[in-house]
Amino acid sequence: MSLTVRSAVAEDEQDVVALWRACGLVAPYNDPVTDFRFAKAGPSSDVLVGVDDAGELAGGVMVGHDGHRGWLYYVAANPASRGTGVGRLMVRAAEDWLRERGIWKVQLLVRDTNTQVVGFYEHLGFEVSPRVVMSRVLETTSKSEVA
Ligand SMILES: CC(C)(COP(=O)(O)OP(=O)(O)OC[C@H]1O[C@@H](n2cnc3c(N)ncnc32)[C@H](O)[C@@H]1OP(=O)(O)O)[C@@H](O)C(=O)NCCC(=O)NCCS
Repeated sequence: MSLTVRSAVAEDEQDVVALWRACGLVAPYNDPVTDFRFAKAGPSSDVLVGVDDAGELAGGVMVGHDGHRGWLYYVAANPASRGTGVGRLMVRAAEDWLRERGIWKVQLLVRDTNTQVVGFYEHLGFEVSPRVVMSRVLETTSKSEVA
């Protein structure tokens, strides 16, 4: 499939959120609209989209870095386009975005309900890292309060 990968613009927001929902990527504790706008707002993160010749959204990825490591979120291929290289293209585009900013290692989290996707990432050269991920909700600094 021939796709153009570009940085998402505000007009893409609705389609991107619909894609994330169609791909089962929206968790109840995440507001995807806030996530989209927050990622677009700063210099250390972006949302990339893959658009076909008809202008339809075929894939997307949220990419960013924290000054040390690069992270991927919302890696998505439109269900109608699966198995045609869209997912690979989005991951590679995000990796290029990170490389251009001097980041040499990329990481991502896979939910324990989505482990079937591990094979996809391994196919692209990722390895499962033996780490314990710890997190805590910061009650007073939610994205909606700072946006
Ligand atoms: C994961 C996802 C992005 C893959 O997109 P895709 O466009 O179907 O994948 P591609 O066609 O680019 O696949 C690239 C390669 O990985 C392989 N592959 C794809 N899914 C795989 C899987 N689950 N296990 C093993 N290999 C897989 C393909 O066969 C292809 O191999 P090839 O290049 O040798 O032919 C897509 O299935 C998706 O959107 N899933 C729902 C959202 C999701 O779970 N995202 C990840 C959150 S962590």
